[in-house]
Amino acid sequence: MQSPGCAIICEGVSYAYRSGEKALADISLKIAPGEFAAVVGHNGSGKSTLAMLLSGLEKPGTGTVLVDGIGTHDAARAKDIRNICGIVFQNPENQIVFEKVHDDIAFGLKNRGMKDDEIEARVAEVSRQLGIEKFSGSFELSMGQKQRVAIAGVLAANPRCVIFDEPTAMLDPRGKKEIHRIIVDLHRAGLTVVYVTNLIDEVLAADRIILLSGGRIAGAFRREDLPARLETLRSLGLETPFILEAAEQFRARGLAVTLDDYTLTALVDGVIRSGGKAP
Ligand SMILES: Nc1ncnc2c1ncn2[C@@H]1O[C@H](COP(=O)(O)OP(=O)(O)OP(=O)(O)O)[C@@H](O)[C@H]1O
Ligand SMILES: [Mg+2]
Repeated sequence: MQSPGCAIICEGVSYAYRSGEKALADISLKIAPGEFAAVVGHNGSGKSTLAMLLSGLEKPGTGTVLVDGIGTHDAARAKDIRNICGIVFQNPENQIVFEKVHDDIAFGLKNRGMKDDEIEARVAEVSRQLGIEKFSGSFELSMGQKQRVAIAGVLAANPRCVIFDEPTAMLDPRGKKEIHRIIVDLHRAGLTVVYVTNLIDEVLAADRIILLSGGRIAGAFRREDLPARLETLRSLGLETPFILEAAEQFRARGLAVTLDDYTLTALVDGVIRSGGKAP
């Protein structure tokens, strides 16, 4: 059973690395319980740093990050935050430690002092959820399969929010699709999801898109407002979703294309509906 999603709130957050590199400046952000927020930005814009701060793994230099109302700076509550908020990284090989898939998923639960029979039940449940019941040796798997194991390890703790930091970057197209599907399903099940990605077509599934540039928020808008924000994406040197770009080009050629959804089918229907006529 999935726990309900929790809020994550950043207030006036800045962060500099020990080297002096200022990675984030004055970030204020509210992620609502159960929200699916996509974070997009060019290389070095601060996405991974933000992901670390939102998950509580790093503490802000100034400002506060609250996960389900708990300040990540509160050392006495670090364990609670670890239970509430999980993080999945780009490279699953950095997240998987044990040779056996079962042991890897069970590890976090053992650390939390869970009883053996409960651990077995939980490992079986998440393995079913992610379709990895038949996997045995962790290191013999493909990258996509390893990423599913890494996600299972995070989900085993029954978190209320999961931060994904470019989890599909190292996967082939099929692997990317599988992980994207898992993320969408987790959101549907009620989890709060923060999804850092550079695959602009994947942000179409998010409730809200947060743009980062130079360590600052350069824009935050709801999914339905995306068509009106394509210029903002371009001005930041980011790509635009294929469906929206195509609809825009049809309109530029005089077709009154409307989209019911951000799917290829909706685009084709929109073109047919326009009847080849200008607005
Ligand atoms: N460990 C570190 N030590 C010093 N500076 C760092 C460190 N990690 C990141 N930075 C710097 O902080 C800034 C933000 O980096 P961050 O990794 O958060 O960006 P990003 O948006 O995730 O980039 P990418 O798309 O390449 O993953 C960059 O200027 C980067 O060089
Ligand atoms: Mg990064």
